[in-house]
Amino acid sequence: MKVLVVGGAGYIGSHCVRQLVLTGHRPAVLDNLVFGHRAAVGSEVPFHQADLGDEEAVCRILAEERPDVVMHFAAYAFVGESVADPLKYYFNNCVCTLHLLRAMLRQDVKRFVFSSTCATYGVPQSLPIVEAMPQAPINPYGQTKLDIENALKSLAHAQGLSFAAFRYFNAAGAANDGSLGEDHIPETHLIPLAIAAAVGQGPPLQLFGTDYPTPDGTCLRDYVHVDDLSRAHIAVFDALAQPGAALFYNLGTGTPTSVREVIAAVEEVTGLRVPVIEQPRRAGDPPALYADARKARVELGWTPEYPEIRSIVATAWRWHQSHPRGYADR
Ligand SMILES: NC(=O)c1ccc[n+]([C@@H]2O[C@H](COP(=O)([O-])OP(=O)(O)OC[C@H]3O[C@@H](n4cnc5c(N)ncnc54)[C@H](O)[C@@H]3O)[C@@H](O)[C@H]2O)c1
Repeated sequence: MKVLVVGGAGYIGSHCVRQLVLTGHRPAVLDNLVFGHRAAVGSEVPFHQADLGDEEAVCRILAEERPDVVMHFAAYAFVGESVADPLKYYFNNCVCTLHLLRAMLRQDVKRFVFSSTCATYGVPQSLPIVEAMPQAPINPYGQTKLDIENALKSLAHAQGLSFAAFRYFNAAGAANDGSLGEDHIPETHLIPLAIAAAVGQGPPLQLFGTDYPTPDGTCLRDYVHVDDLSRAHIAVFDALAQPGAALFYNLGTGTPTSVREVIAAVEEVTGLRVPVIEQPRRAGDPPALYADARKARVELGWTPEYPEIRSIVATAWRWHQSHPRGYADR
C-alpha cells in the first residue's frame, strides 16, 4: 500500500514508517517538524515539510503521492498544556485534522487511520476498559481526540470514508535495532525520564502519588510497545477496504503496571539506581487505566510482541545507549 504518514517524523509515526518499509509498503511523510525529527525518517522515504493547517499544500501533497491510506499521528499531546491553553489544542488537533480530512475528500482518498487515546475515556467506570464504555474526557486533549472520533463517524456515514481510530494506552519503547526512539522536548513520559534520571542526564524522577488504592500505592498504567502499535496500524488495512467502515480499537497489552514496577524494570535493565522524589498526587491522574484489547486481537489478529515491561524498557535503553543525546538534529 501507498501510505501518507502525517506526523511521521514524530515518535510513534516514525516507528510506523519503519514498520511500513519493513513490511513492503510505500510510506511518504508529511510533518511540519514542530516536534518531529527529520533524522527519524529514512532518506529513502519521500518527506514533505508542511503544516496541516495549509489545506492547499496538503491537497498538493495528496495529489502528488496518491496514497491508498492516510495515517494521522500529528497532534499536540501534553495534557497539562491542553488545560492551560485549550485553543492551541482545538486548533491543532481538531481544526487542522478537519483540513486534512477535507483535503482527503477533495482528492478522493478515503481510508484513514487515526491516533486516538485512552484519555477519551476519562476516569473509567470499571476496569479493564472496553471500547463500548462511555467516553467522558477530563481534559481538552482527550476532548479534541473524541471530537475527531465523532467527526469521523459522521464522515463515514455521509461520505463513505473508512477509518480506524486506535485508542492507544501508554506508548513506550523503541525500535529493537536502536535506530529510532523517543526524543520529545519536553519529555513527559515515564520511561525516558527514569532512564535520564538513572544515568544522571536528568533530574531525579518525580513520583506523583504513593497512596493510591493500588497494590503498591502508585498509579497503574498499560504500557504498549511502539512497534506493536505500528503493527496494528498495518493489520487494519484489509478492514479499511470496506467503504464506510467505522472501527474503534483499544491498543494496550492489558497488563496493569505500576510506576514502581516501571522504576524497578529500569533499574534491572540498566543496572543503575533511579533516584526518585516522592510527591503528592497530581490532579487529574486516575489511579488505574488499562485496556481490554481483545477486540483488536480477535478482529485484527493483533498480538503484542512485547507483552511485559522489562522487554519494552530494554528497547528504550538500547535507544538511549546508541543515541544518548537523542537525534542528531536536536
Ligand atoms: N505517545 C503516547 O503515549 C500517546 C498515547 C495516546 C495517543 N497518542 C497520540 O499519538 C500521536 C503521536 O504521538 P507521538 O508521541 O508520536 O507525538 P509526537 O509529538 O512525537 O509526534 C507528532 C508529530 O506530528 C507533527 N505535527 C504536529 N502538529 C502538526 C501539524 N499541524 N502539521 C504537521 N505536522 C504536525 C510533529 O512535528 C510531530 O512530528 C498523537 O496524535 C498523540 O495524541 C500518543
